[in-house]
Amino acid sequence: MRVPLLDLGEQYRALSEPIREAIEEVLASHRFILGPKVRAFEKAIAAYCNTPHAVGVSSGTDALLTILMALGIGPGDAVITTPYTFFATAGCVARVGARPVFADIDPETYNISPSAIRDYIENNCHAGPDGAWRTKSGEKLRAIVPVHLFGLSCEMDALREISEHFRLDLIEDAAQAIGAESPFRGGTAKAGTMGEAGFFSFYPSKNLGAAGDAGMIVCRDETLATKLRTIREHGMEPRYFHHVIGGNFRLDEIQAVILDVKLPFLESWAAARRAAADCYGAEFACAGLTERITLPAEPYRDRSLTNHHVFYQYVIRAPMRDALREHLGKCEIQTAIYYPLGLHEQKCFAYLGYRKGDFIRRFREKHNIMLLIPSLSSTAHGCRTSRKRRRFHCSPFALARVSALFFRTRSRGQLQAARCEPI
Ligand SMILES: Cc1ncc(COP(=O)(O)O)c(C=O)c1O
Repeated sequence: MRVPLLDLGEQYRALSEPIREAIEEVLASHRFILGPKVRAFEKAIAAYCNTPHAVGVSSGTDALLTILMALGIGPGDAVITTPYTFFATAGCVARVGARPVFADIDPETYNISPSAIRDYIENNCHAGPDGAWRTKSGEKLRAIVPVHLFGLSCEMDALREISEHFRLDLIEDAAQAIGAESPFRGGTAKAGTMGEAGFFSFYPSKNLGAAGDAGMIVCRDETLATKLRTIREHGMEPRYFHHVIGGNFRLDEIQAVILDVKLPFLESWAAARRAAADCYGAEFACAGLTERITLPAEPYRDRSLTNHHVFYQYVIRAPMRDALREHLGKCEIQTAIYYPLGLHEQKCFAYLGYRKGDFIRRFREKHNIMLLIPSLSSTAHGCRTSRKRRRFHCSPFALARVSALFFRTRSRGQLQAARCEPI
């Protein structure tokens, strides 16, 4: 069977009618940018996240750029973030003229490690007479940008405590984690709502995906929300009067209506992703692979949270990754590597002076790994229903079977002979 990395068609087929109707309405209204549909979608996201303000923007990248600009972060400042994320996280910090500073990740969850942040500040920074913390090269520490990677929320209690202790803003990159929950201050909170500001990406492959680029910022502070709204439109308020320099970070009405149609389904889609993830776990266990393959950590699983993980990606670590991946590819099971390089290894960040082994070392050393991402489509759901369905329509079953065959034949030196059929 063919297991695609991503199947966007499935969602569209289910909702094509209401989506088409909503788009028609926008076309007929001739209101295309920052109109009533954007306002309605902002309201819906604010209600979903239980936060007073939501500001629609043109992408996740522009969301972070807008937040950094609104908080006045720029040249002479430093922002702590993770080296293990999509480029935009640190790219935006550099674009506003600040210095990205990386702190290592937790090798189990892949999220930024609060203790690594604390170690970095305590051992490499000093507090000035104004109480602000500065790096060795003199930049003022301004913010922490944790990334809720692959749909799992970071340890937010610890991060909030650190940010308050060192007087840093906490900006949550929830681009991959809309709806994810974590324990926070004795209760539960959704990703994006526990810092000064947080943001989501609605890139088409995301759990809530637009038909193009789109993003959303959420925050609690009204003054900050007003600033964000101004900056997303060239710092203009009222029209043609510019108090600050902003950009064109506006969300359009067509993306807003598409997302608004999809939003009511987000919770059930997250539940389906968790069910699919459970299937993968069960099939890897059935195939006897749990000693070889590291499955995704689910640290909040037993904490009575609904969305303890929203599985934007189902990420595993495996030895002999490249050979395994090649073999899976031959058997029409698509995978991807997230991410082939840490951000500290990217050429454009060479000026920051990091070395290759500076971060992410512990889990790379342990396993000669990086990550495989099988599809989390609804084809996963049949995996325990019937033997026939299991054999022919179940991507977790296929992935686990083909992987098990790979390791078996590999250890007997017979990889060439490994067959892809029947799956
Ligand atoms: C962690 C992370 N941050 C930021 C972004 C940027 O979002 P966008 O692609 O909507 O600009 C992404 C997008 O993939 C992401 O995964």
